[in-house]
Amino acid sequence: MLFGKMPISNRFVSEVNNAEYFYDLSICFCPGCFMVQLENCVEPTMMFNEDYAFYSSTSEAMSAHFKNIAEEISAAVQGRPSPLVVELGCNDGIMLKHIAEQGIAHLGIEPSANVAALARERGVCVIENFFAAESAGKILGKNGQADIICGSNVMCHIEEINSVFKGINILLKPDGVFFFEDPYLFDIIKKNTFDQIYDEHVYYFCGLSISELAQRHNLQLVDMIPQNVHGGSMRYYIRKGNNNTVSQNVEHYLLQETNLNLHNINGYIAFKDKVNKICYDFTKTLREIKSKGHRIAAYGATSKSATLLNYSKVGPGLIDYVSDTTPVKIGKYTPGTHIPVKSHEHFIADSPPYTVLLAWNHKHEIFNKEKKYRQAGGKFITFFPKVAIE
Ligand code: TMP
Repeated sequence: MLFGKMPISNRFVSEVNNAEYFYDLSICFCPGCFMVQLENCVEPTMMFNEDYAFYSSTSEAMSAHFKNIAEEISAAVQGRPSPLVVELGCNDGIMLKHIAEQGIAHLGIEPSANVAALARERGVCVIENFFAAESAGKILGKNGQADIICGSNVMCHIEEINSVFKGINILLKPDGVFFFEDPYLFDIIKKNTFDQIYDEHVYYFCGLSISELAQRHNLQLVDMIPQNVHGGSMRYYIRKGNNNTVSQNVEHYLLQETNLNLHNINGYIAFKDKVNKICYDFTKTLREIKSKGHRIAAYGATSKSATLLNYSKVGPGLIDYVSDTTPVKIGKYTPGTHIPVKSHEHFIADSPPYTVLLAWNHKHEIFNKEKKYRQAGGKFITFFPKVAIE
C-alpha cells in the first residue's frame, strides 16, 4: 500500500523551509515468510541521532508498564549466578533504571545520544550504538553472555533484523530468554490503525512472521503475551534451539492470525479502502468544524501522527496547534505538515472547543487527566475504529 511522500516522523522542524527530507512510504507483504514491512527504509542515522524527539518517560502508563517489565526480569534472574540483563533501545532508561537500582548487572544499547545521556543520568550503563551481530560480538568479549535480552518498541525499528537475530544467538546464554514487544500486526489490520505505519516502524510483526524469523536463526518462539500499550502490542518470548516447551498461547495467536488471513495477501486487500475512508471522514469532520468558525487543537505530537496528518493533508489550516509535554517538541512544527507544537499549559489556558486525540494510544490516561476540559464542554475528536467526537 502506498502512502506517498512522508517526512521523518520524529523530526520536528524549528523553521518552515524547503530543506525538509521526504521519502516514499509504502508497505509490502512477503507470502514466503509472512513479514509485512516498509518498502523503502530511511537511513537509521537520519532518525536515531542526538535530535531524537521520542522520550519514553512521557506517559505515566508507560512508566508503570516498564516498571512491570523490570519486576518480571528481576524475578526471572533471581538465583541465577551473576546474571546479565541487556536491553536493546533502552531510550531514557525508563526500564533499566529499576534494574540498575537493584544492583543487577545490565547494559542498555541505545544509538540516540540525547536519550542515552538521560539513561546514564539515571544510573544506567549504556553503550551508544546500534545492536547487530558485530556489536553483539564486542559485548560478548567484554561482558559475557546475557541471561535476558529484551527490547520494547525497538525490534520493529531495525532494518537489519537478520543481523539482530544473529546477535541474539551470539549474546544469549544457552538457557537465556530473549523477549521483545512491538505493535501487533493483527491489531493494526483489525482496527485499521494505519498510523502505526511510519519511517521508524520497518516491520509489522505477528506470531507467524516471528516464528519463521526465529527458526531461520535456530531460535524458537515459545510464548506470546498481548500488551495493552501503543494501541495493541504483542510480546514475543524466544529461546535458543528448537526443543523448548512452547506455551499454548503461540498456537492460539497463530490461529487467530491465520483466521484473519495474515498469511496471505487476502488479509490485506481491504485495508487500503478502510484507511482511505477514515482519512476522508477525518478531514471532512475537521472542515465542517472549521467552517463554523471553531478552533481545533490536537493532543500529543506523536511520531505516528506524521502518517495521519501528511496522508490526510491536514495542516495548520485545519489544526491550530498540537499540545505536547515534551520540551524538545514545544516551539517547533510538526514534520511535513508544519502545525505549531505548544505546551500543555497553553492548551489548558486556551481550552479549545475541539481537540484531535493524536495520542489515541494514551486515551485512558489523557481522558483522566483532562476531565475538567471535557466537563467544561471540550470535545475530543478520535479516529479509530472510525471518526468520532467524544
Ligand atoms: P507515543 O504515542 O509515541 O507514546 O507519543 C506520545 C506523545 O504524546 C509524546 O510526544 C508525549 C505526548 N503526550 C502528552 O503531551 N501528554 C500526555 O498526557 C501523554 C500521555 C502524551
